[in-house]
Amino acid sequence: MTTHQDNIFPVFDSILQRKDKESLLRQKAVVIWLTGLSGSGKTTIAIGLEKALNSQGILTQVLDGDNIRAGINNNLGFSEDDRKENIRRIAEVSKLFLNCGVVTINCFVSPTNEIRQQAKEIIGAEDFLEVFINTPLEICEQRDVKGLYKKARAGEIKDFTGINAPFEAPTHPFLAIKTEGKTVEQSVKEILNKVLPLIKAN
Ligand code: ADX
Repeated sequence: MTTHQDNIFPVFDSILQRKDKESLLRQKAVVIWLTGLSGSGKTTIAIGLEKALNSQGILTQVLDGDNIRAGINNNLGFSEDDRKENIRRIAEVSKLFLNCGVVTINCFVSPTNEIRQQAKEIIGAEDFLEVFINTPLEICEQRDVKGLYKKARAGEIKDFTGINAPFEAPTHPFLAIKTEGKTVEQSVKEILNKVLPLIKAN
């Protein structure tokens, strides 16, 4: 029996190669994958990192949970299966950017090892830089910028990461940033120092 997949013929050979685009841009593409609790500072750090990379002449794209979930993934919720599908699509989108030579900075809670492993497999281990934005739950909850922790504690949101859904800290991240007591600029600098040598073409 044939499946619909048997009748699909992706074209690769006539497409301009990633390395051609990378040399045009004079950079090497990677996916900088920020994982951490809601309110841990992923997006703020990503915005700072994007500015810093852009000022070094690097072309970037920030992909952010709230934005992606308002658009391409607006049919997905926060069950385990929906989160997996959310991250699968994002990983595929990141790969398109990679093939275009663009550095993506991804801000997704991506709460479990399994989910992040899936992203790593789709993107390719060598291009996947996992950065753990390590802000304790107490601090995220104190800040509660979006008021979601309060709602989750009141039982108005089910499956809220850190409250009634799991968050597993990465075991071997490329980099872990303890944000407590640091400025955004300091966290950005830590990431920049480690990623820039991998991105900058000689
Ligand atoms: S992920 O778990 O699938 O990776 P993603 O990063 O896309 O999550 O989205 C997380 C954002 O959605 C949070 O920053 C928060 O603003 C919002 N959100 C709404 N409901 C939840 C929930 N149940 N758990 C976590 N985040 C939620």
